[in-house]
This record gives sequence, structure tokens and C-alpha cells, in this order.
Amino acid sequence: MTAVGTASSKEMMHLEEEYGAHNYHPLPVVLSRGEGVYVWDVEGKKYYDFLSAYSAVNQGHCHPRIIDALVNQAKTLTLTSRAFFNDQLGPYEKFITEYFSFDKVLPMNTGAEAVETAIKICRKWAYEKKGISEEAAVIVVCDGNFHGRTTTIISFSNDDNAKKNFGPYTPGFVSVPYDNLDALSEALSQKNVAGFLVEPIQGEAGVYVPADGYLTKAKQLCEENGVLFIADEVQTGIARTGKLLAVAHENVTPDILILGKALSGGVYPVSAVLANNEIMNVIKPGQHGSTFGGNPLAAAVAIAALEVVTDEKLAENADRLGKLFREKLAEYIATSNIATLVRGKGLLNAVVINDTEDSSTAWDICVALKDNGLLAKPTHGNIIRFAPPLVMTEEQLLDCTNIIIKTFKQFEK
Ligand SMILES: Cc1ncc(COP(=O)(O)O)c(C=O)c1O
Repeated sequence: MTAVGTASSKEMMHLEEEYGAHNYHPLPVVLSRGEGVYVWDVEGKKYYDFLSAYSAVNQGHCHPRIIDALVNQAKTLTLTSRAFFNDQLGPYEKFITEYFSFDKVLPMNTGAEAVETAIKICRKWAYEKKGISEEAAVIVVCDGNFHGRTTTIISFSNDDNAKKNFGPYTPGFVSVPYDNLDALSEALSQKNVAGFLVEPIQGEAGVYVPADGYLTKAKQLCEENGVLFIADEVQTGIARTGKLLAVAHENVTPDILILGKALSGGVYPVSAVLANNEIMNVIKPGQHGSTFGGNPLAAAVAIAALEVVTDEKLAENADRLGKLFREKLAEYIATSNIATLVRGKGLLNAVVINDTEDSSTAWDICVALKDNGLLAKPTHGNIIRFAPPLVMTEEQLLDCTNIIIKTFKQFEK
């Protein structure tokens, strides 16, 4: 048997195929190292990472400052549970609430857990503050949403693949078309509505950017109806779209903010829910928690990850390079018959491929991109998401747009 570390890609893929549940369909590349915007496969081939672990590695792979925080804290104290205080959590809570301008944070681990947490807070607020009668609270969500994989969250998904045969489903959710203010206004005016849960840009669905003014008006409608505006910024947050938060493009302040992924720079699962006192204080001891949520390792890592975002001006870089990316791709698409559209904000972008949704063309292009040294993945059907680490330089970005355009050209009809 070959020892791990010297095994070939083929052998490693075989092990996953044989011993792992088949709940993913990865691109055929086996990575063993990452640094900044680059990753290397087990044979030593170097690639640009244009997925960033679904926008978790915004600060670049193995950022030295974040890794130092991780290693130092790992050698000191990793987990106490919340049965006791620890000396990292308080300073982290002060840091993150000041960073995002909220009174309080509730720390969790994964994005889905943070979404679940926000739903629980919203419902409890609805019963205890808004006076909705027990069990009647409704949360409005959007068609095409992606908020994670728990049984409650998939209950309000309209992706058959994510949902089918996992029922019975959790009630209490109403779905409206995304980016449709009339439908939202109608839904929010119904009885018993507690919250509106929304992605400021729908990432998984294919990087759908709503019309300018949608979020501002949606927030206003929430205020008029006494409904909490809950922003799921697990994918769009932490500088990805060219501002610290995607809601900041419209100066919207959510009532509840959900963060995950890049809150740790991708080195450790760290998520968070932020809200002000009148909302967060509905949660009392014993009513919600997680063994790992708020652990010292997560706290130390998250502070370092957020400091990197500020110090390295990652939002500004994402904004500038995102514009350049869309400009270069749009220029090519004007003359192309394989790509029809580029859209996005900051460094969260997608290209729509000129083929049917059920075709394998987007997948085949991603395999060719891999062969040409760049890793990206289709989101839904014929859409390819392009989301590199935000530490990319302009020179690297231009190298990447050349690789992408060269690869698309291989598929011209
Ligand atoms: C908007 C959004 N919310 C929640 C999640 C779930 O996060 P996790 O996979 O960490 O549970 C994701 C993951 O892609 C996401 O994009």
C-alpha cells in the first residue's frame, strides 16, 4: 500500500470513491498544498484557486498571520465548552461586535448552524416581543435560496436535489421570487410574519445580483411591517463582493447578520450571528448553544482573519479586481458563442455558458480550465462561478482572465 503523501491522484480519488459517502461530485484534482491564491495537486502541479472553498479562503490559503494565531492558540487552549469562561471569547466578542457595529454576537461553527441560530432568535423574538401567537411565526425566504443543509433549512429550499426524500419538512416558511419587491411586499403584509431571510447576492443559485435598490426597499418594507431583516452573508460577507458586507453596497443594516466561511480565512469552522440587544437578549442560558461554538481557537483565529481583511484592504482589492475581471470577460463575451454573460460584484462572479442547463458543457470547461492551471466549478447547470482569494494581484488576475478566455475559445462552436 502507498503511504499517504506519496500516493497518486488516482489512488486518492479511488479511496474517496470506495470509502466516502458520495455526497459530492468533485472535479478530478487532488490537492495537497495551498499558499495565497495557489494550490498544488499531489503530483506537484500548480493551479490558481478560483473557488476559494466556496468563498471561505478570502484571505488566501494558509495566511501566515491566521496560521500563527491558530498554532499559538492550539498550543495553549483549544476547547473549554461554554460551561466555563475562556480568556479568548470575551475579547473576540468585543472585537467582532465593534468590527460589524452590533451590540452582541452568538458564536457558532458552520454556516448552516448560524442560519439555524438566526431562525431560532427570530422566532423567539416574534413570540416574546412582537406578540405572535405560539407556533404561528412565519419567515419569508426567496426562491433559489441556499442557506445550508439541515432538515429545517432544506425545508424551504426549492432545489429538488437538496430536498427530495428528506421530509417531513419544517413548517413556518413562505418563499417569494428573489428580487421581486411586489411579491415581497405582499408576503410581508400577511399575518404572523417574523422575519425575511435573504442572501444579498444568491451565490449557490448562480451569483444572481438583485436590482439596485432591492435590498434598501426590502429593508424598508420589513421596517414598515415590523419584520426582522436577516442577511445571510455567509458567502457574500467579509469583503468578497468589494465591501466588507454585501448589504453595504446599499447602506442597509440588517437586524440579524449571519457570517461564516471567511470569518476564519478558511482554516477552521467559525460562524457567527450578530444582532442588537433588543433582539439578541431573547436568548437565555440553556436555550441555545454548541460545544465548539465560541471556543478559544475559533476566537483567536477569527480576530486574526478579520484583521487581515482590514490591514490588507481586501474589500478594496476585490472591488478593483472584480471590475477588471468583468471588463475583460465582457469584452471577450461580446465576440463569443460559448459564453453569454458575466455577472457579479467584487470577486464573486459567474459566467453563463451558452448551452442547456442540463448539458455537461460547463463541467467540461471546468475540466479544461483545470488542465490549463485554474480551478473553478459549475454552480447550477450551465453557470460557472469565479471566486478567487481576495489577496490576488492585478498581474495574477490578468494571467487568469487569459487562461479563462483561452479555455473558453477551445469550446467555441
Ligand atoms: C449563503 C450561504 N448560507 C449558508 C451556507 C452554509 O454554510 P456551511 O456549508 O458552512 O454550513 C452557505 C454555504 O455555501 C451559503 O452560501
